[in-house]
Amino acid sequence: MSASIVVGTQWGDEGKGKIIDIIASRADVVVRSQGGNNAGHTVVSNGEVYKLHLIPSGILYKNTLCLIGAGVVLDPKDFVGEIESMQSRGISCDNLKVDPRAHVTMPWHIALDGLSEKFRGNADIGTTKRGIGPAYMDKYERSGIRVYDLVHPEVFAEKVRTAGKLKNKIITDVYGGEPIDLEEVIKEYTEYGKVIAKYVDDVSVIVYNANKAGKTIMFEGAQATLLDIDFGTYPYVTSSHPLSAGVCVGTGVGPMMINDIIGVAKAYTTRVGKGPFPTELDDEIGDTIRNKGGEFGTTTGRPRRTGWFDAVIVRHSVRVNGLSRLAINKLDTLSGIGDLKVCVAYEKPDGNKITDFPPTLEELAGCKPIYETLSGFDEDISACRDFESLPASCKAYITRLEELCDCKISMIGNGPDRTQIIER
Ligand code: IMP
Repeated sequence: MSASIVVGTQWGDEGKGKIIDIIASRADVVVRSQGGNNAGHTVVSNGEVYKLHLIPSGILYKNTLCLIGAGVVLDPKDFVGEIESMQSRGISCDNLKVDPRAHVTMPWHIALDGLSEKFRGNADIGTTKRGIGPAYMDKYERSGIRVYDLVHPEVFAEKVRTAGKLKNKIITDVYGGEPIDLEEVIKEYTEYGKVIAKYVDDVSVIVYNANKAGKTIMFEGAQATLLDIDFGTYPYVTSSHPLSAGVCVGTGVGPMMINDIIGVAKAYTTRVGKGPFPTELDDEIGDTIRNKGGEFGTTTGRPRRTGWFDAVIVRHSVRVNGLSRLAINKLDTLSGIGDLKVCVAYEKPDGNKITDFPPTLEELAGCKPIYETLSGFDEDISACRDFESLPASCKAYITRLEELCDCKISMIGNGPDRTQIIER
């Protein structure tokens, strides 16, 4: 009986897809608990690239049950598109289930995401414009449309007319946007509902029973710790709880079920969207990391901001997630860039040194990273399969990260393929 959680420890895009895929290959059940199609997991398998936004990565394994929990916001159009795209590549979606409690991302959520971002002007959040924030707003305001409604046409039509009327008023009267044709939405989305109906089931019950039956369960995180609505860099965050604890409320399971929590970090740091980034490299090294590491968004294609590894951030993640271990990805990207810097603490504007990540942006503002410099490496490490065969400076880098983050590093990624991993 084993239930593990995989979470991102930085601002997302840590290569969780790859770690998730490796763990998924050993799991009977894979569960998504929060977020929506703002997430983008890239999995490379046998040279084939799969980009998943909503469907759990276990889908690549024939016998793995893939579940989407109540805490997810589901865009039916994307979801159906993803199912069809997987099927057209010969991958069955028969083992896929979605909880009827999950909320549906509607066209007005997407419209309002774009309009409110535009309205904010320079103070925009830099969202993925997938309607995530507005969908969660309706959920917590208790006016959302859920997957159950989507697959019951009469209930759905009624809810679209009621909710859509108000949304159209906001779109046109507040933002001066174009109203959405609600009858068209009913027609289009009812068709998605017909496709989705066969996948609807109570995910909380399925996971509970699977655990009782001794199955191996993996909860795959989307987004990451610093994008958590409470413990991230608010307001430059997403609207859900990507923390390990979010898995329990997002699936409907108790915390005592979980016995392993794996945090994924990159050997450096990246972020998309706006917001503070203390170790950001606005220089040639930053460009090199971006180009070598292919740091462009899976969901939006935006170039990612790049910077040195920030141990203050990852230590924060170790604490708020209760991590049992870390996976460090993309160590190979750092080959050939010279000495490596690691942020070990911040210096506040008053000269004081802090080692805990500040709770607010106001306190983070003006914090300067305090760096330790470690030797870099020039070797191509992409073929290494055990820790001992890594160059000495690579091993020293990993060992130092372990000390600074106060957490064991049990996996090291050294290339995009699922086989390019060193397990310790
Ligand atoms: P939203 O989730 O679309 O509302 O966007 C809020 C913030 O979270 C933006 O900075 C996004 O770029 C970021 N974000 C959302 N999902 C992901 C992800 O999967 N990886 C990295 N950043 C993300």
